[in-house]
Amino acid sequence: MKDDKPLIRIEVNGKSLSVSADHGRRLSDILREDLGLVGTKVGCDAGDCGACTVLLDGAPVCSCLTPVAQCDGRNISTVEGLSAKGPTKLQDSFLRHGAAQCGICTPGMLMAATALLAENPEPTRAEVKDALGGVLCRCTGYTKIIDAVCDVSNLRPPDPMPVAGAAVGAAIERLDGAPKVAGTEIFGADYWPQDAWIVRAIRSSHSAAKFTFGDIAGWADAAGVQVFTSVDLPGRNCFGVIPPFADQPALAENQTKFRGEAVAIVAGPRAAMDGLDLEGFPIEWDALVPVLTPTQAQIANARQLHAERPDNVLITGRVAQGDVSQTLDQAAHVAQASFETAYVEHAYIEPEAGCAWMDGDVLVIQACTQAPIMDRDDTALVLGLPQDKVRIIPAAAGGGFGSKLDVSLQPLIGLVTLKTGHPCRMVYGRRESMVCTTKRHPADMTARIGIDSDGRILAMEFDGVFNTGAYASWGPTVANRVPVHASGPYKTPAYRAEAVAVHTNGPVSGAFRGFGVPQAAILQETLYDDLAGMAGLDRLEFRLMNALVDGDETVCGQEIYGVGIRECLEALKLDWADALISVADFNSKSSDLKRGVGLASCWYGCGNTALPNPSTVRIGITVEGEICLHQGATDIGQGSNTVISQFCADALGLPVGDLTLIGPDTAITPDCGKTSASRQTFVTGKAAMLAGQALRQKILVLTNKGSGAKFGKIEGGLTVTDSAGTVTLNLSGMPQGEHGYVLMAEETYDPPTQPLDENGQGVPYAVYGYGAQVAEVEADIQTGKVRVVRIIAAHDLGRVINPQLAEGQIEGGIAQGLGMALMEEYIPGRTENLHDYLIPTIGDMPEIRSILIEKPDPEGPMGAKGLGEHVLIPTAPAILNAIRHATGARIDRLPALPHRVLAAIRKAGGAI
Ligand code: FES
Repeated sequence: MKDDKPLIRIEVNGKSLSVSADHGRRLSDILREDLGLVGTKVGCDAGDCGACTVLLDGAPVCSCLTPVAQCDGRNISTVEGLSAKGPTKLQDSFLRHGAAQCGICTPGMLMAATALLAENPEPTRAEVKDALGGVLCRCTGYTKIIDAVCDVSNLRPPDPMPVAGAAVGAAIERLDGAPKVAGTEIFGADYWPQDAWIVRAIRSSHSAAKFTFGDIAGWADAAGVQVFTSVDLPGRNCFGVIPPFADQPALAENQTKFRGEAVAIVAGPRAAMDGLDLEGFPIEWDALVPVLTPTQAQIANARQLHAERPDNVLITGRVAQGDVSQTLDQAAHVAQASFETAYVEHAYIEPEAGCAWMDGDVLVIQACTQAPIMDRDDTALVLGLPQDKVRIIPAAAGGGFGSKLDVSLQPLIGLVTLKTGHPCRMVYGRRESMVCTTKRHPADMTARIGIDSDGRILAMEFDGVFNTGAYASWGPTVANRVPVHASGPYKTPAYRAEAVAVHTNGPVSGAFRGFGVPQAAILQETLYDDLAGMAGLDRLEFRLMNALVDGDETVCGQEIYGVGIRECLEALKLDWADALISVADFNSKSSDLKRGVGLASCWYGCGNTALPNPSTVRIGITVEGEICLHQGATDIGQGSNTVISQFCADALGLPVGDLTLIGPDTAITPDCGKTSASRQTFVTGKAAMLAGQALRQKILVLTNKGSGAKFGKIEGGLTVTDSAGTVTLNLSGMPQGEHGYVLMAEETYDPPTQPLDENGQGVPYAVYGYGAQVAEVEADIQTGKVRVVRIIAAHDLGRVINPQLAEGQIEGGIAQGLGMALMEEYIPGRTENLHDYLIPTIGDMPEIRSILIEKPDPEGPMGAKGLGEHVLIPTAPAILNAIRHATGARIDRLPALPHRVLAAIRKAGGAI
């Protein structure tokens, strides 16, 4: 058939091309779909995120907003063109500085920076911020990106890779970084089998509704597509991350419980699906009055979302010890407050995406995820398949932060491929991603804390109501984790904390960096500032006086060691004192702008709360001498591919560069659990260390050498050397075992926790991490606008495995904490895109200084603790305490938008 679309001539990366396309087609679509240049990413299709930035005649443009007709006769440069002759200095600099974490924003950042450097080879930090201001990053906090761009003209040569035994502690470049900066990393939307059908979902636009389908078959026939509803699901239409609470249908049956819930899927060849108007889909909606808040959900006769959960209560978590009421009555000072927080959207730059195909009788799904084994199990359940008939290959995840722990499109694309035999693919749009995936729980919290006349904490009570939305997701985890942590890392002899997760017709609240602890910390740290004032103590001294130390018992009665909170606070003392002086000086000369300093702390138990939590790591040597590390933890940008390799290499006794990494794939890597709760460095890291040690031991036995022997990798084998000489291990003569290795070790580590009793007493976590941050802010008391000037963050990692990656985690966590404090509020129906829902841009970020503390944990691998969640927790309370110090305004609802700050300033009676 003759293609009558106009012919447009473009030059792409120096190559002249003609494309036949409608004038209005997006350039990003042409690049990705027609030319296969998938290095250009699409995050929003609205010009908000900048991930699709390319150069048009040398100038950066959002290719999603650029109609291809505008490109006729012009030059387009994409990330693929940068490395045509090998990586550029800019790409090298990104690698060297750790400027790519998940990597989804990296191509856009590189293109914007390329345009800047072409004009200005030695830009200042401010100039970099200006030039990159249109590209969003949700992982890095931007600091290392700015470092990388500024350093291009003066790039140091790479450090040599560490020798055997020296990997742990070395700031090596991320081992999986090269494809991220080359633009060749395969994210969920970047691969699809040939002729894959396109899948789209029909979703509810009501918070609660009944529905009936019309003539689906007639509509599908006319459109040349197929439609699937819940009746087509061969298995149990119910999934959930915590099996006893599993309650969420893959496709709703008769009734939806939240805006965005899927009721049907439409699939067909691309020609039929392109431009298909889903507005005409035959469905009748009968909207119900939704239950939107926990208060509405708990009034008498409120509609029950789940019949088996009276009063819409999913679960209540509780920790209690001592007589709190009596102790508070006898306290010298008692501070009390309430605080509300909003829904927070994960806002990863990569919307959910993936594809499916059949490999014999095995359904294969390649999609972005944080939890491949859980995806496999949920998908198999919904599709009525044995687990070994579903294979999950995680695509690179362009950010996750908790939300990609829940399955999203996996059962949907699985269903299409299973039913039709066709490979298929699905990519959520930005709005779809925001509407139908999980959020941070909104919290409504009240607490009282009492101290003696010296300022020592005597008792605390905490009550929190968490809006868990329509389905369980991670609500039980939040409800159980919050009471354990609501005291902060402080001695609290009498304690009662309860957190109740309440169902509403709001978005499903799930996991988001910290699992409810960031919300609780805001209230506790606000009250600590009150109490320091009541006791007449400096705020940092007050915290130091009450900080937990080795041998103390937590509020769960757990005796803990390796407690680094005092060290973190001590490390901040000088900066704290200096900042107090400098803001006082600033304020003495300024009337409308006032500066303040705030402080807050964190602690966080790594891994599941009082539940089994194992990881298994395999390492094997092939007959050719290749050393393969099977590491099943998904690296969503945090760096587990690198850190886990560092552990294993040192335990084995070979340089980390000698290992071949085999990444997560449910068919070839053992279960390393989910990437959540800051557990991978600790739990999988320890499994990797044990596996490395076990393989080393096998080699020592085989070669009859002692524990101090040194290994060397040679062509086709290994050498083992001690003072008695060198033995060469002849691998070629050795039989291959179950997984095809001539030598192999596989080790499992499960943290030693104990169940909690009805008062939450027990051992919820084997390892905790600690931290404290000082924030300096500047507030305009006429407008309520707040700018964060600097943050100094001291975090106890137990043992620093990779300082560069650790700093990256801290900077990224601070960015998310800043967003939560000052701008992020997800409102269904109102902030469902990245121009109404604001996340920090490069211009919002303050100067950040990280201080890495090492207080080894007796249980952690080589003393290490987790870090990923911890780093976000202190940021929002430190900022709020700084706003109060600057203005006197006591914020009691997040985010602290200018109108709320202004109202609080007026309530407080002006600046202090
Ligand atoms: Fe920038 Fe992940 S590295 S969004």
